[in-house]
Order: sequence, then C-alpha cells, then structure tokens
Amino acid sequence: SKSSRDTAADKESTSRTGVSDSNSSIVPAAPEWRFNKDLSISIRKNILKFLDAERDISVLKGNVQPGDIIHYVFDRERTMNISENLYRLLPSSPPLKKQHFKRCAIVGNSGILLNSGCGAEIDSHDFVIRCNLAVVEEYSRDVGLRTGLVTMNPSVVQRAFEDLVSEAWREKLLKRLRGLSGSVLWIPAFMSKGGEDRVECVNDLILKHHLDVQTAFPSLRLLHAVRGYWLTNKVLIKRPTTGLLMYTLATRFCDEIHLYGFWPFPQDQDGNPVKYHYYDSLTYEYTSQSSPHTMPLEFKTLSSLHQQGALKLHIGECD
Ligand code: CTP
Repeated sequence: SKSSRDTAADKESTSRTGVSDSNSSIVPAAPEWRFNKDLSISIRKNILKFLDAERDISVLKGNVQPGDIIHYVFDRERTMNISENLYRLLPSSPPLKKQHFKRCAIVGNSGILLNSGCGAEIDSHDFVIRCNLAVVEEYSRDVGLRTGLVTMNPSVVQRAFEDLVSEAWREKLLKRLRGLSGSVLWIPAFMSKGGEDRVECVNDLILKHHLDVQTAFPSLRLLHAVRGYWLTNKVLIKRPTTGLLMYTLATRFCDEIHLYGFWPFPQDQDGNPVKYHYYDSLTYEYTSQSSPHTMPLEFKTLSSLHQQGALKLHIGECD
C-alpha cells in the first residue's frame, strides 16, 4: 500500500532503525509518548555542528548588494541577480533572533489532516510553522489558523496561484499573504533556476501593498548543511523536503516539537485513502520516480525519533 517512492536507501534505514516496513506499525498504537528532553538537547547540539538556524534562516542585507550574482544551490552553472526589490525585502537581522519557544507545531501538508479536528490543538502551540502557503481558512477545524512562519517554494505561485495569470489569482495570493500578518514568510529563492520571476511577483505584491510579513530567504549553505547532518546520521536522503528542513531548523528555536500532517502514504493505518495534500488534488504520482525527495525514508526517521521521545508525530484525530 505504500507509494512507489521507497528506495534501496529506505530499506537500509528500515533495518537500521528497527522500524518495520508496513504503515500500520510505523507509529505505535498507544499514545504513550513522553518528551525526551536530554535527547532533544543532544540533537540540537549535533545539528548546530552543521548549521546555525538563527543565522542560516536568511541571507541578510549586510551579506549582499543589489546586482550581486548568486549561483543557484542545485544548479551552480546558472545564476540570478539580487534585484532591488529582493534586496529591500532581505532582513537586516535574523528574523527569529534570540527567540525561543517551549512547544512548536510543524504542520505538513498531508491529507491525513482532513477530519482530524486538530486545528485548536495546533493553534495552542507557542509557535506554528506551516509549509508552502497551504490554505488554512477553509480547513481551520483540522489545521488551525495561527502561523509564525510559513514557507513558499517559488513553484507554489504556479501550482496554487496559476502563475498569477489574472487579477483574480493575484487577489487570491494577496488575500493569503494579508492573512499572514506579522509572520515570517520563508522563500527558498536561491535553490534552482526557474522561480525568479515568481519570487519577483510576490516581492512586488508585498512591497506595493505594504504587507505585514517578515520575509526571509534561506542562505546558500542551508540545504547542504541540513543534508549533511542527516547523511552523517545515516539517513540517506537525496534532498530534504520542506517538512524535514523545518524540523531541522526548529530544533534551534523550540524545545518540544510536534508534527502534524506528516504522512506520505496513500492510505491511513486502517487502509482508508489519504490525499497527498489536504487542500488540493495533487496525487502521489506527482512525487514519484523523478522526485528528489525521499519522503517515506524521512518519515521513518521522524517516526524513530518519535519513538525515542525527541519529537511527537500526530497521526490520528485530536481530542
Ligand atoms: N508531507 C508529508 N506527507 C504528505 C505531504 C507532505 O509528510 N503526503 C510533509 C513533507 O515533509 C513535506 C511537507 O509536508 O515537505 C510539506 O508538504 P509539501 O508542500 O508538499 O512539501 P514539499 O517538500 O515542498 O514538496 P514539493 O517538493 O512537492 O514542493
């Protein structure tokens, strides 16, 4: 019943973590979970050897000048220029500098959230991280409304907002951005070629409408540092997903980390179908063979950390 994205690396990790290969036994049935503070502190320390999220969360104004040439992280041959608008939106100091939260929620985008009733529980955390500007309002009972930080891959502008082809789509994006009021909008603009016009459009909207968002543009070293940390720990990911990136970053700012909406499988533990995203009609094929991600492998890793109490994965319904 699993998606076709399992790889040899995935199997290898299965034996290493002792986690069985069937969905039903990935997460223990009884929710007897206790936070393992010592383990979470040691994970934070180890991650800090690879990256300091406080610094790498964004390039700062002091690091670049308008017109500077940037080589894309995954496409070193190709370049982009720091535009005037992008420069204006770079933070002067790190967006989450010296911030620390006791309990954080990271909300992935799996359809497992539908009918979960987890909205209020998610919103009760001290800081809520969301991915790819996922819709919240229409699903607030299941996903909550609060957002401290939300990511936006440039491809989201195309996928979820029809490349802003019409005024109606521009309005829709504008409405979504207005809803962020004060939170961090984290845009990986320097990863690969192809998204620069989309990022420019979003930057334009933010500046033109004086939107109240704190933009952040992850540093060039971030992706490799995160990947390096997991590879060193024998988690053989190709390219970390947004969700894994957020967990890795969050260890810097949060004590207890709770994950919701992480379930990269087309069926739930009882065999019922699960949508790939809770809010659109993309299917699992979308991330199949050609995808640079290894979501089920990541999931097993997170699941193993859950079992050790380093983080908590919420899969079922909330009370
Ligand atoms: N996720 C999951 N199971 C799913 C869908 C998503 O566990 N069925 C998690 C993944 O960690 C993912 C995060 O939720 O990174 C956010 O989802 P999405 O926006 O699809 O993430 P991306 O990694 O950015 O995926 P893509 O490359 O498709 O943009």
